[in-house]
Amino acid sequence: MKNATDVTDADIAPAHQAEHQKLLIVDFGSQVTQLIARRLRELSVYCEIHPFNAVDDAFLDAFAPQAVILSGGPASVPDADSPRPPAKVFDLGVPVLGICYGQQVMMQMLGGEVLRGQGTAEFGRAFISPTDHRLELLAGWFHGTREQVWMSHGDHVSRLAPGFRPYATSEGAPFAVVADPKRRFFGMQFHPEVHHTPHGPALFQNFVQLAGFTGDWTMGAYREQAVAAIRDRVGDAQVICALSGGVDSSVAAVLIHEAIGDQLTCVFVDHGLLRKDEAAEVVGMFRDHMNLPLIHADEADLFLDRLDGVSDPETKRKIIGGLFIDVFDKHARDIGGAAFLAQGTLYPDVIESVSFSGGPSVTIKSHHNVGGLPEKMGMKLVEPLRELFKDEVRALGRELGLPERFIGRHPFPGPGLAIRCPGEITREKLAILREADAIYIDQIRRHGLYDEIWQAFVAILPVRTVGVMGDGRTYDYACALRAVTSVDGMTADYYPFTHEFLGETATRIINNVRGINRVTYDITSKPPGTIEWE
Ligand code: XMP
Repeated sequence: MKNATDVTDADIAPAHQAEHQKLLIVDFGSQVTQLIARRLRELSVYCEIHPFNAVDDAFLDAFAPQAVILSGGPASVPDADSPRPPAKVFDLGVPVLGICYGQQVMMQMLGGEVLRGQGTAEFGRAFISPTDHRLELLAGWFHGTREQVWMSHGDHVSRLAPGFRPYATSEGAPFAVVADPKRRFFGMQFHPEVHHTPHGPALFQNFVQLAGFTGDWTMGAYREQAVAAIRDRVGDAQVICALSGGVDSSVAAVLIHEAIGDQLTCVFVDHGLLRKDEAAEVVGMFRDHMNLPLIHADEADLFLDRLDGVSDPETKRKIIGGLFIDVFDKHARDIGGAAFLAQGTLYPDVIESVSFSGGPSVTIKSHHNVGGLPEKMGMKLVEPLRELFKDEVRALGRELGLPERFIGRHPFPGPGLAIRCPGEITREKLAILREADAIYIDQIRRHGLYDEIWQAFVAILPVRTVGVMGDGRTYDYACALRAVTSVDGMTADYYPFTHEFLGETATRIINNVRGINRVTYDITSKPPGTIEWE
């Protein structure tokens, strides 16, 4: 598996060379740092998150930010070894916004004082009141006498650094908003990036406006830059891409195709564990509609024969992952060897997370890597979505002309229906599952619920139950419907369908799918459950 630490500068789409304006977020380890980036990207401002211990003077020179935001974090400024940004941040002549810990560390470094919490901690919803209305950063705030914000702090600023004035106060934070408007340094004790600070977006809007951002981070501009960067990196070499039909690999493939045309070959590995009509849809869409050079590797028999009699979930995954590499490898060799492998890696997978126990640690999701292929095949990577969040990938997909039906698709796991068929997989069970799943998804679409749900599917259970249909006894499979809301799949809630919807769906499935005589709805959240059944 490729690890982000193995990624050389040359692997990365050259953000530092890009022509758009850039904002730097220095991360001190807050749980919600990514949301700062989200809020800024929504304003068409390009930003990158970097851990405090990776930001030094040389980095600042190379990055040349037009503004800096210091994030919150779990450390305590009065501690001797508490993390700091380089002092140079305050000599760049650009606006600086400190949030929570970021405010405190800024105050301390510029000559103020921070005290450990003494009954002043605030966690959760809080209200701040203005003490001075003349701050550009707060334009649009305080229509009433106070604003709802979200706080999460123990320590607080007890004395302001020279040049700073207070602009708002809360019960636990006398200096809830402070600023030195001349130097354009701002600090706030609360978190404007979270949804519980309802007018937080206005505050970011004001900040980027006063920092002179023009909102040049648009998908149109990104498309042009990315196409040029891909051409630059690939030259006249061949690129191969495992196309799954999911949003990320689809958008990556279409973008790369726009850049290098037929130097790209996509391989769609059909492992026989796809949903009803899925292979035809994906192949029809990309080969026939978008003219992408696409190999449809129909290997259902290979996969299903090897999975015969296997019931352990991790063994299933290993078999599928191993065969996937073999099949992909074979096709890569058939086309004469490709120098590059395209992957739909997204920004959240490459953001380095802050670790206080050593150097910056790295988080990367394994399922974005096609099972160690780059090392095995000696390939370099092309990852044109490395700078984007998921909704930006969708926006880019729209920009590239992908139909909405593809862009809005629910995620689908690599092992496919194998992990929705707990226990042994048989062709009979897969056929039943496909029919039931198609009806369920159709029901969800008919009721206009598809986009409200993060992921929905049917699992066929390894149990037969007794039923009665007409005058006869049945002894068929039970199935479970699953539908969850989620932001990133890490946690999830079950979707609250109405009883009418559930009843109607169960009736449609039982009446139309031979082999199922009982339908249940899974109301487990994650945790303690997982989204998939295996
Ligand atoms: P769980 O079941 O872990 O699922 O709550 C979270 C998300 O990950 C997907 N998933 C997988 N995706 N290979 C994948 O590519 C896998 O082995 C795998 N297992 C789960 C799942 O569909 C959900 O979106």
